[in-house]
Amino acid sequence: MNSGPIIDARDVDYSLEIAGRPLHILRKVSLTVLPSEVVAIVGPSGSGKTSLLMLLAGLERATGGVVAVNGSDLGAMNEDELARFRRHTLGIVFQSFHLIPSLTALDNVGLALEIAEPNLGMAQVREKAAAALAAVGLGDRLDHRPTALSGGEQQRVGLARATVANLPLLLADEPTGNLDQKTGAVVVDLMFDLARRNRTAVVMITHDPALAARADRVFTMTQGQLTETTAKTAPVSL
Ligand SMILES: Nc1ncnc2c1ncn2[C@@H]1O[C@H](COP(=O)(O)OP(=O)(O)OP(=O)(O)O)[C@@H](O)[C@H]1O
Ligand SMILES: [Mg+2]
Repeated sequence: MNSGPIIDARDVDYSLEIAGRPLHILRKVSLTVLPSEVVAIVGPSGSGKTSLLMLLAGLERATGGVVAVNGSDLGAMNEDELARFRRHTLGIVFQSFHLIPSLTALDNVGLALEIAEPNLGMAQVREKAAAALAAVGLGDRLDHRPTALSGGEQQRVGLARATVANLPLLLADEPTGNLDQKTGAVVVDLMFDLARRNRTAVVMITHDPALAARADRVFTMTQGQLTETTAKTAPVSL
């Protein structure tokens, strides 16, 4: 059991070689997130937010520094170990939902649970997936395919899928980017509620400062550099 930070990224560099020339995407990024902390990242388009999320998810590799998640150094893992790490550590919510179109809401969520917990029986998978959908207010939409759901409903399925296995980390890349403001606020409310109830840490990228302000801490990415910009509250006198 890891009792330290869920994310401990130190001096992370990420660069790619494009047409024989280095492109520096992240420079000396450090980020520490404690279990059950909710963190938002804002910043201009192209500043490196999604790139950082990909490194934290173990979907890309840092070119410098250390990315440790849930106590494990991702740089020291091979591809199989990274795949196992992802299955047992984190869920991801994407801007464009990324649901499987041929599967019902129940099966989209059930599939994610089967991947995280292959030893569960079919009945348990269905029961837990149905409960996760009920928790996001979709208990009466279990058999709907994504095309038969509104954008906000699809994103709530995405949220149920990312949380059904009760993993310690939730990564969200502009989860409200394809939703109107009101629907987006509902989805973020749900996401924060679920996270607090399950003690899941959240890293959410958003362009909306009002949504970011609801996180415990806010960071700004500018040209590959990350700085904390949490509004300072007045010191509490003891
Ligand atoms: N695979 C890649 N090949 C080339 N350039 C890339 C690659 N991935 C990212 N980049 C570049 O890295 C920079 C950061 O991209 P990233 O997607 O992380 O930005 P972002 O902050 O998420 O932007 P947005 O708000 O538009 O989603 C951009 O200039 C992008 O073009
Ligand atoms: Mg992005």
